[in-house]
Amino acid sequence: MLGRAQGYPRPGTLGTPSGSSAGSCRVTVATLRAPGTPRRTRRRRHRRDRRGEPRCWSPESTGTGTDRHRHRHPNRRPSVTRMLSTSQPSPERVPSPEEQEWAGPEALCPGWLEDEAPDGEVPGHSGDPDSATHAYEQLQSALCQEGLPPTLDCSAEPRTGFGLLDMTVCILGSPIPFLPVLLEGGTRCPGAMVLCLSPAWASRVPSETSPGAWSLLLSQGVSFKAGGHSALETFVPPRRANYVTGTFAPGDPEGGWVGELARDLDCPTGGSAPLAHRLEDTLVARWVLAARGDLPVPPTLAFVLSARGDLPAEPAAPGVRLVRLEDPQGQQSLVQEEVGAFLGGTAMEPYSQVVVRPAGWRWRGTGTRSTHRKEEGAAVVQAVSARLRGLTEEDSVLLEATVPTARLPVPPPRSPAPRLPMALRICTLVCRSWGDRPQLCQVACAVGRAESPVRHGAALPQGLDSSLQQWGVAAPGQRQALARRLREAAEAAMGALLATEAELSSQQRGGTRARTDILGVDFLLACVDEALELVALGTNSQRCLETCALAEAMGRGVGEPRGELPRLLAEAVLHRAQCHLVEGKDILLIGAGGVSKSFVWEAARDYGLRIHLVESDPEHFAAGLVQTFLPYDSREHRRDEEHAERVLELLRSRGLRPHACLSYWDDCVVLAALVCQGLGLRGAPPAAVRVAKQKSRTHRHLQRCRRGRPPPAAFAVPCRRLQSHGDVERAAGAVPFPAVAKLEFGAGGVGVRLVENAGQCHAHAARLWRDLRDDADHPGIGLGWGNAMLLMEYVPGTEHDVDLVVFEGRLLGAWVSDNGPTRVPAFLETAACLPSCLPADRQAQLVRAALECCRACGLRDGVFNVELKLGPAGPRLLEINPRMGGFYLRDWIREVYGPDLLLAAVLVALGVPPVLPARPAARTHLAGVMCLASEHGESLAGGGGMEALRELHGRGLVRLNRLFEEPEGAGEYEEPLLSVACAGATLAEACERLLGLCQGLGIDSPRYPVEHFLSHFK
Ligand SMILES: Nc1ncnc2c1ncn2[C@@H]1O[C@H](COP(=O)(O)OP(=O)(O)O)[C@@H](O)[C@H]1O
Ligand SMILES: [Mg+2]
Repeated sequence: MLGRAQGYPRPGTLGTPSGSSAGSCRVTVATLRAPGTPRRTRRRRHRRDRRGEPRCWSPESTGTGTDRHRHRHPNRRPSVTRMLSTSQPSPERVPSPEEQEWAGPEALCPGWLEDEAPDGEVPGHSGDPDSATHAYEQLQSALCQEGLPPTLDCSAEPRTGFGLLDMTVCILGSPIPFLPVLLEGGTRCPGAMVLCLSPAWASRVPSETSPGAWSLLLSQGVSFKAGGHSALETFVPPRRANYVTGTFAPGDPEGGWVGELARDLDCPTGGSAPLAHRLEDTLVARWVLAARGDLPVPPTLAFVLSARGDLPAEPAAPGVRLVRLEDPQGQQSLVQEEVGAFLGGTAMEPYSQVVVRPAGWRWRGTGTRSTHRKEEGAAVVQAVSARLRGLTEEDSVLLEATVPTARLPVPPPRSPAPRLPMALRICTLVCRSWGDRPQLCQVACAVGRAESPVRHGAALPQGLDSSLQQWGVAAPGQRQALARRLREAAEAAMGALLATEAELSSQQRGGTRARTDILGVDFLLACVDEALELVALGTNSQRCLETCALAEAMGRGVGEPRGELPRLLAEAVLHRAQCHLVEGKDILLIGAGGVSKSFVWEAARDYGLRIHLVESDPEHFAAGLVQTFLPYDSREHRRDEEHAERVLELLRSRGLRPHACLSYWDDCVVLAALVCQGLGLRGAPPAAVRVAKQKSRTHRHLQRCRRGRPPPAAFAVPCRRLQSHGDVERAAGAVPFPAVAKLEFGAGGVGVRLVENAGQCHAHAARLWRDLRDDADHPGIGLGWGNAMLLMEYVPGTEHDVDLVVFEGRLLGAWVSDNGPTRVPAFLETAACLPSCLPADRQAQLVRAALECCRACGLRDGVFNVELKLGPAGPRLLEINPRMGGFYLRDWIREVYGPDLLLAAVLVALGVPPVLPARPAARTHLAGVMCLASEHGESLAGGGGMEALRELHGRGLVRLNRLFEEPEGAGEYEEPLLSVACAGATLAEACERLLGLCQGLGIDSPRYPVEHFLSHFK
């Protein structure tokens, strides 16, 4: 492994004295510009050089109609300039069409060209209207390149009416790096993505919600719609941003005003100037990568001023040694000693070359460096000392090994031509995805000559696989393994960075809400001990984004399908904006639920929801966890209409006007629908919820739904209602045996029984009607609606849950999980897994059937849990639960896929369509078993099993989801106590772990054969 040496041996003398080596230093100090010395960026130089005058021209001064866009949109130009430029008339002539053509490629990729250019210039184009016009031109050119229509000028008619529930993702600064995100986001959430090209388009006002913070208001912007259409708009009154990011990178011409506008905002902010500075500081980045991410980095010796405060006092980072200097002038001997120890140390053994360079965000991309052979100790000391003379508190001087790219034998046929030493740089882009998990979005490689670093923008990007193949990694398996390791390394890098950022003060972060959401990490492919090793070079906020976006765009030139990059990034920022949208919203919750819903209170706090809770139990533990507790006994559900009136009165008397109303508690779904209707809020209509809540009604209703291909009737199952023993014979005539007898309004599988004939049905009904009469006999299983039963044909096949998010009848998300065999004759759930092991087409059948059943019942807005069985002839419905999936489902879906059902339910109830992954990708596999008090009570409680499980849960080794604190129901009415699950990279691995655990804890037994339960998951 590289760079793992903690310290270096300290020979008393310098490595190899080499007096003559000073002359080999390729860059002389005198030619270098000190950071901060103002100099125009290369782009601006280009712009002037090419034409001898600035390209910016004021449309007021143009009337010749040479602008192609203006031809098409005669109205656009004048008002664009009203906004973009000041009244200063531009003296420039109108460029000829040829010149405009010339402007194309350069305008497309300013950052690309500029990557290594700015020479430490401090960003300072703040508010320059010239740069805003230029940015607008860049945007038009880029849209044109994409084959998209130019931006439509709609600014004459101000857009009004943006309110509390409108999403606004604001991208500040140059249009290019984020263009793919703007286009994708515009299609996903039309109008939500707004590009702000000028500081004059936005203003900061003190936040009403977060004292000390600011709200960003947009009065103008380019908003993006479906299909790549964009419009220049004015917003009256100004529109409030829910999420802000932009081009913060030092050296970016817009960096100054972008950083200023995005500072200390009250909404989530993707990055900030201070965070970008940290990312661009090689020393800070390497420290994070090595110390926190456990990634190999090039051996690095860093000198900083002792006063520098943004680094840990004692950074124990493998491969990075930090030396603090009181007085860089007077510490020649210390420098000599450190340099000597570094050059002669074990970490340097594999390397022959070193680089001396200043580091810090101001030095980003300056290319300032000198290269030395390891033996030239004196020259290295001299170079370091020279650099130290200009050292400031924000910078460092780095001495680092030049890590050569691994050289592998290139497979035949080999050209006889000499092979030039080449280097491969691997650029990765990682985003902070659902649940703050790092997710690799894209990889792009660049190849260059080995003598100097391969820079972003110096070569066209290429794919990882073909690069590795070109490099001689012939075996596909080896290339896949490297790709996997790269993913792990890049995601570990972001994990490390996020952990470090979380420890910074809000001032250091540039705002309480500022987090790095999009991160670039560069790697080298090195050879260490004859093995290929990924060595992390550094991080950046923008360059990898630009490189990866270019790679993605290039792919389309050869007919490659759109990659994941724009989708993942757009989903990440839109999701963040939605999280901000729900903050501070008043949510009326009907029914608190039991311990299985304990997660709700924590989630509500994290999302910043103001919960007003209507709950039948006046002593409920959640009373103290909510904004308003409204005890109200609604257990007699046959009077839900009356309850709804009372609840509405209660709200009126308290002056409460909730933004949304919902319930995730089975018993309260009808009441919630009635209250929703009374308040005029979004939700499923009460009639629809009633149909779903009553099992026989659901099926009878579906049987009548004969339109559609196939009609929803195809998913229904024959069943008959049983209100008395007299109904049994009639039902037995209509429903074939074996059949299932169960409670009409039941929940939790209580009272469900397989019956082989009418006699068994009579017997079961008699017992049930005797034991379960009202809610007090078994709370929470729907007995408040009575204990009517139904007889239903037994459906063969495998059992599945489909959890759906539906908005205006449109499917926004669906997750399929599998259930193991149930324990007959009762139907106790034994095991489950997520993701489903079904092939995609069978999952699609289940999802479509679930959706059609919901829609046919009138459930068009909400989060629903549909239980189905999949037989040889396709899916059949068991029941629809018109609420989010219970027990472990919310936890598992979040863990495996990222999205939160609870948040989705809140968003739908607010009237906002939740943004969910368009292509859900499982991050892990979960397999779980249910534990029963009757079977496992003793081993769990007495045998210390529960303690062990809690401990393993705390360490993230198992997922524990409790349904009850105490055993619930007894004998044939028993419900599971808890679910224990294990994760694995594959389902087989998850099952193997779980089985081992169950055997170890005594959950597995001949009476409770876990291996058999899990054997269904294949
Ligand atoms: N018609 C049926 N055919 C086969 N199994 C059934 C049938 N009805 C119910 N079950 C089994 O019983 C379990 C509980 O039934 P369900 O209708 O979902 O009641 P609950 O609302 O109590 O969950 C189901 O998950 C399934 O395993
Ligand atoms: Mg069920």
